[in-house]
Amino acid sequence: MKKELLQLFEQAREEFKNTASSDTKAQEQWRSLYLGRKGKISEMAKHMKDLSSAEKKEIGKIFNEGKKELEQLLGGEVGAQKEVAIDMTIPGVAPAIGHVHPITQVMDTVVELFVGMGFDVAEGPEVELSKYNFDLLNIPKDHPSRDMWDTFYVNHGSSSEDVVMRTHTSPVQLRAMEDKEPPVRLIVPGRVFRNEATDASHETNFYQIEGLVIDKGIGVPDLVGVLQAAMKGLYGDDTEIRLRPSFFPFVEPGFEIDVSCKLWEAKTNGKKWLEILGAGMVHPTVLKNMGVDPNEYTGFAFGMGLDRLMMLNHGVDDIRLSYTGGLPFVRQF
Ligand code: PHE
Repeated sequence: MKKELLQLFEQAREEFKNTASSDTKAQEQWRSLYLGRKGKISEMAKHMKDLSSAEKKEIGKIFNEGKKELEQLLGGEVGAQKEVAIDMTIPGVAPAIGHVHPITQVMDTVVELFVGMGFDVAEGPEVELSKYNFDLLNIPKDHPSRDMWDTFYVNHGSSSEDVVMRTHTSPVQLRAMEDKEPPVRLIVPGRVFRNEATDASHETNFYQIEGLVIDKGIGVPDLVGVLQAAMKGLYGDDTEIRLRPSFFPFVEPGFEIDVSCKLWEAKTNGKKWLEILGAGMVHPTVLKNMGVDPNEYTGFAFGMGLDRLMMLNHGVDDIRLSYTGGLPFVRQF
């Protein structure tokens, strides 16, 4: 076996010499033939077990040294070649890592801010009974927002059991209060749907964050204080809010709230006030529908459009860009 082994090494060395050092394919073939897992050397090593222990010692030594020498041959050649073949200074290919959508980023920031003020987060279904979306919110049957043009009906009859794609996050006010007692401080982030003719500022699908606070002695100053703190938290201490009277059937009094901040002013060519929120004191009828005594408790609610915030933050001028799924858009944020 000793002779055969020496012959094998000799043969391998000879063959290697005849392989051009630039021919990596031939070198690999050679490596596989001799040094591979099923190569000639491994095959021969299998017979070692039949040898006496003295022979094993001697042959084993030849075997190890020979193998090492062949590996070095290869290492030297290939190693020398590698220095040329791999240029360590070429920049690598960065792995593609995704990130959350800009609307989700805004949502996360706003949620975090209100959670910091002691609010809990509640959620509700996107496909909703019209009882929650309208009736319990004091929105009567003949209100324009119930019109087929405003609402996607999943099935349209004339009962409160109609199923709609929710048109706002306000129904969750009612759902959440089914198993809660005041005092409550809730926010509800979520997706809402309206049957709109789409354009740069209207989409059939958008996102809102609802807020609901109910406790003893809650008044408009609390609403103003919380929203002012939230907006300052989001956009800095010089951010201002402004209330304008408005009408929503589920609040009394109701307001539209405008916000002014330096970031947006810069993105909108100096436009100062931008309407971001609907808000108001929870209507006594709605409190009753929640099982809350309006003589004992009062509360405020607000709803803000997240798409709008995202667009203002980044100076995006078309809401539809958010929903195209186009990577060139989302990669900017
Ligand atoms: N749900 C209203 C809307 O979508 C916003 C709102 C919420 C207004 C809460 C007042 C109170 O327009």
